[in-house]
Amino acid sequence: MTKNSLLKENQTFIGVLNPYDNKDKIDNLVKKKINTFSLELLPRITRAQSMDILSSQANLAGYKAVVESFAYFEKAIPMMMTAAGTIPAAKVLVVGAGVAGLQAIATAKRMGAIVFATDVRMASKEQVESLGGKFLTVEGAENLETEGGYAKEASDDFKKKQEELLSETLKKIDIVICTALIPGKKAPVIIKEDMINNMNTGSIIYDLAAVQGGNTAHTKVDEIVNKNGVKIMGESNILNKLPTSASNLYAKNLFNFVSNLYDEENKMININLEDEIIEKTLIK
Ligand code: NAI
Repeated sequence: MTKNSLLKENQTFIGVLNPYDNKDKIDNLVKKKINTFSLELLPRITRAQSMDILSSQANLAGYKAVVESFAYFEKAIPMMMTAAGTIPAAKVLVVGAGVAGLQAIATAKRMGAIVFATDVRMASKEQVESLGGKFLTVEGAENLETEGGYAKEASDDFKKKQEELLSETLKKIDIVICTALIPGKKAPVIIKEDMINNMNTGSIIYDLAAVQGGNTAHTKVDEIVNKNGVKIMGESNILNKLPTSASNLYAKNLFNFVSNLYDEENKMININLEDEIIEKTLIK
């Protein structure tokens, strides 16, 4: 992006451009008549699934967050009944059951944890349960889902009820995986200071929303914050720890996107604005 002066009129530029934060830079590209596509803007439709970079990368991030947090946890994860005594299964709470959250639930279940999850979108309840997780419903809450399948910002009433529910739950949770995001906004702070104070020493919070501001009151990017024995972790780019898988999936997403944009017959890029995928990702 900083080398934007090297790009020429009518060239096509495709990437993960973070359009909300890089508005000025992107506007400059558009002014220069460079066909600029930002893949975060892909519509969540079936045809676009194979191009969906947010899904492919979030899926890997959800898996890796569990692996990383379990590595820091000083107890075994599955229940073990041994001659020397019984180790109880670790209890995991996943906050936000989107793509990353659902993979975190599946990974933690496979490792033998007891898994709870919560989300503002009611559709996620069935998905959590199908993976063997227990869904924590905020009583009386309205369904906060946009038409595109993303979350809406919660009302103060919802936040209060969610806080009461999570305050009680967190007292018995060993590991929390935070994934809650609202597109284009700062991540909601869901795990407050007093909730952390009530957690058991040795508990871990892995915050995948760290870069967007964090889902906890104490998240610091690339630091492990210790609050009364509760470790709060979050990295600027967890996918750096899975570079081969992340690049493989990203390359396939990109290939599928370009294939849709490419006119085989005329051997050229064809920006057909009647195609929803092209129309939604092109910055105008
Ligand atoms: P995301 O990364 O924007 O957010 C993660 C999760 O946090 C979401 O489930 C969201 O509802 C939740 N969240 C936000 N605020 C919260 C709060 N205050 N408390 C608790 N949870 C909160 O979302 P992601 O993972 O990108 O997926 C969003 C939706 O898109 C899902 O419905 C998913 O199934 C759908 N999807 C559809 C695809 C398709 O092609 N049909 C492909 C990928 C995802």
